[in-house]
Amino acid sequence: MENKTIRTIGVLTSGGDAPGMNAAIRAVVRTGAYYGLKVFGIKRGYNGLINGELEEMNARSVSETLQRGGTCLMTARCLEFKEEAGVRKACHIARVFGIDGLIVIGGDGSFRGARDLSNAGLPTIAMPGTIDNDISCSEYTIGYDTCLNTVKDLVDKIRDTASSHERCSVIEVMGRAAGYIALEAGIACGAEVILIPEKSYSFDEDVLRPILEAKSRGKKHAIIIVAEGIGGVIEMAQEIEAKTGIESRATILGHVQRGGSPTVRDRVIASQMGARSVELLLAGKANRIVCMQHGEITDVDINEGLEMKKEISEELISLAHKLSV
Ligand code: ADP
Ligand code: F6P
Repeated sequence: MENKTIRTIGVLTSGGDAPGMNAAIRAVVRTGAYYGLKVFGIKRGYNGLINGELEEMNARSVSETLQRGGTCLMTARCLEFKEEAGVRKACHIARVFGIDGLIVIGGDGSFRGARDLSNAGLPTIAMPGTIDNDISCSEYTIGYDTCLNTVKDLVDKIRDTASSHERCSVIEVMGRAAGYIALEAGIACGAEVILIPEKSYSFDEDVLRPILEAKSRGKKHAIIIVAEGIGGVIEMAQEIEAKTGIESRATILGHVQRGGSPTVRDRVIASQMGARSVELLLAGKANRIVCMQHGEITDVDINEGLEMKKEISEELISLAHKLSV
């Protein structure tokens, strides 16, 4: 199908939702309308493609969505799509609806699905939408900034009460296997300790010692941010209390981190990436990930992008350590 003139495109959101996905969908639909394309919104991720849940969209279909969290197309995880037969079914439905190119907004699991579709002959472009910021080829993922701001607001509130009671608060944040949310939110909230899966730690040296030192320097509370990839915050709080005598509480922030109106940064980047995705398809490109590199929106081959490794910033880790004195 590659290099065929693009007249009809589809867009779907897949995997965990993220604030800014609506801005991305809107940008795809409106850029499509600008270039005179027919645009289908596909419901519930790859499930909708397999089951034929497609709806034609126009510029007005995405009115009043820019400021909303979640995704107006809904999202899902689809096991059937991981099988070859599922991909074949999806390609068949795309042909039935006359779809010449597809745009997938999601995380790296969704990207693997996008790659399978491209390999099966349906030109596909993937766009990073996940609060985790764990897409290797991209410095930024849609939803990350909103999530960080939500975590910042919540941890600031916990700090008020932790400080009043002179307690230690152990707070688990999302991020799947990655520690980006924990690291940046930890710096933004002045955490005494940040634990991320990318760095091994010793409980006595890296958790207990800084808490006791903070207390001896006159701090009224201790904030410990723990990435979900480390987990175990309830037991950790109990152990801290038992070993230091400092009253401790655990909080798992959970799905509240995925909701809410997207920040300006998320809206703008999602809009840029959405428009770029459509323009790539129009330029005859397929099997690409739209991403951010050196602060610019660009695109990379999907196979190469999936192979890349993303390092966590040692500079930020060191900064967090310096500032926790
Ligand atoms: P995310 O896209 O946020 O990483 P998931 O890992 O749950 O979320 O993936 C979302 C969907 O992408 C899955 O439900 C499945 O349909 C598809 N997918 C995930 N991994 C693969 C894979 N290895 N091959 C093909 N499709 C996949
Ligand atoms: O990928 C986004 C994310 O929120 C992760 O941070 C978390 O591990 C996971 O999704 C939670 O998924 P679910 O919504 O299925 O509980």
